[in-house]
Amino acid sequence: MRASQMKKLKVGLWGASGRMGQEVSRLLADARDLSLAEKSVDIWIDFSSPEGFDEILKKAVKAGTPLVSGTTGLSAKQKDALKKAGRKIPVLWASNMSLGVAVLNEAIRLFSRLEGFDFQIEEIHHNRKKDRPSGTALTLQETLREAVGGKIPDVLSMRGGGVFGVHKVWAFSEEEVLMFEHQALNRAVFARGALAAARWLAGRPAGLYHIRDVAFSGLES
Ligand SMILES: NC(=O)c1ccc[n+]([C@@H]2O[C@H](COP(=O)([O-])OP(=O)(O)OC[C@H]3O[C@@H](n4cnc5c(N)ncnc54)[C@H](OP(=O)(O)O)[C@@H]3O)[C@@H](O)[C@H]2O)c1
Repeated sequence: MRASQMKKLKVGLWGASGRMGQEVSRLLADARDLSLAEKSVDIWIDFSSPEGFDEILKKAVKAGTPLVSGTTGLSAKQKDALKKAGRKIPVLWASNMSLGVAVLNEAIRLFSRLEGFDFQIEEIHHNRKKDRPSGTALTLQETLREAVGGKIPDVLSMRGGGVFGVHKVWAFSEEEVLMFEHQALNRAVFARGALAAARWLAGRPAGLYHIRDVAFSGLES
């Protein structure tokens, strides 16, 4: 089928006027298989705020529309609401939509092999970021805690300038230092990940999915 004949997936954008919303709009304008829609939406992409997240989750569940959300700063209650929504609609939430962070999150599971090490997660973001530590750092912290057990110090956060996002995971012993680092070089990396997630999620059964499912899709066997 020619691209011009293909039926485009209609994407509704929540938080469209924000930094991420504008980036997603820009990529949607160039996408051959997706279009920005205001009405009769096939799938929602949300980059808003915790309050905005509540609204779009309710709206998506009510209409039975799949939802991709990258909004961070969610409370435990909101995470619980995500799980409940997953019983009714396909929903994918990720604190970081980039492929690189999805790989980093898996890679740090290998830290379970390190005995007698001290660990530390560090993150740097632009000075307009509202949540602290970043949602990505909290996800990495959770994975690291699962991998190495025990107590890990709180995330170190820095805010400054226009940094899109830097995450470092450190491991220190008396004899060696290991550090994994991810740097987002632009905001488009997150927007591109959200579009990939939308393509992947559309047409799936109800469930709570993660960006890991998109990144490692087809690699399970
Ligand atoms: N998962 C990822 O990969 C990733 C990457 C980057 C950022 N993020 C997260 O994405 C979110 C947005 O980031 P941003 O930098 O784009 O923020 P931003 O520039 O402040 O934009 C937020 C957008 O959400 C809208 N909004 C806020 N409250 C709302 C509500 N109650 N109902 C509807 N819309 C609402 C705002 O509209 P008004 O201005 O009209 O209020 C604005 O359009 C943050 O949580 C951020 O941490 C996630």
